[in-house]
Amino acid sequence: MTSAPMSQSSLVALSDPQSAAAEAFRTLRTNIQFAGLDRTLQLLTVTSAGIDEGKSQVAANLAITMAQAEQRVVLVDCDLRRPALHTLFGLSNDTGITTMLLASEGTPAPLQQTSVPGLQLLASGPLPPRPADILGSRRIGEILHALRDVADVIIIDTPPVLAVTDAVVLAPRVDGVILVLRAGHTRREPAKQARSVLEKSKANIVGIVLNDAELNATTDYYG
Ligand SMILES: Nc1ncnc2c1ncn2[C@@H]1O[C@H](COP(=O)(O)OP(=O)(O)OP(=O)(O)O)[C@@H](O)[C@H]1O
Ligand SMILES: [Mg+2]
Repeated sequence: MTSAPMSQSSLVALSDPQSAAAEAFRTLRTNIQFAGLDRTLQLLTVTSAGIDEGKSQVAANLAITMAQAEQRVVLVDCDLRRPALHTLFGLSNDTGITTMLLASEGTPAPLQQTSVPGLQLLASGPLPPRPADILGSRRIGEILHALRDVADVIIIDTPPVLAVTDAVVLAPRVDGVILVLRAGHTRREPAKQARSVLEKSKANIVGIVLNDAELNATTDYYG
């Protein structure tokens, strides 16, 4: 299991690659790469205990950081309740993973190229009723599996674990789960509960990210 402190908002890996936060994402990338030596870590979800802890930002920045290392990356918005990735990249949500459910099998995913070379987005698409049922469906499993052929890494954003079952439903279908905690926001009990719910669902928790952490202490340590 790995952990890394994160700070600052938005797509910091793109806008400020020299920052401590961007460096922390590179550390996270390296730790995941090392964790992947033992078992395949191609399909990863990002989740957290509650809302507003930075799941979408961490997913987006990690995806950017992986693309910057010459990997082919697809970022998938499986938050079918509060999708955010298309907004972060200034793209559309008109088509996405939910539109594929209605398309015939074999239809290619409506991937959108982001401003980052090597990074494509599969947005949520129009929001469906009963997202948890949809995320647990065989078809979603097939769609995610098919992405393995077109990307080195697939990073999936999800809703919070303790609010709805969506992330838990997805967890056993992916290679690894990254759990985001937000400094000064995530409380100890919900964090422990989220971890235990994920572990019970046979999730492979490969990383814990401390988002919004005060990085000065770390800087002083190394400085
Ligand atoms: N490290 C940070 N520093 C400052 N603001 C942050 C940081 N991380 C997240 N935020 C802000 O918190 C809000 C939530 O971030 P984000 O959308 O990534 O969280 P989320 O966990 O995906 O939320 P949701 O539960 O709605 O999916 C956003 O307004 C974002 O700008
Ligand atoms: Mg989100």
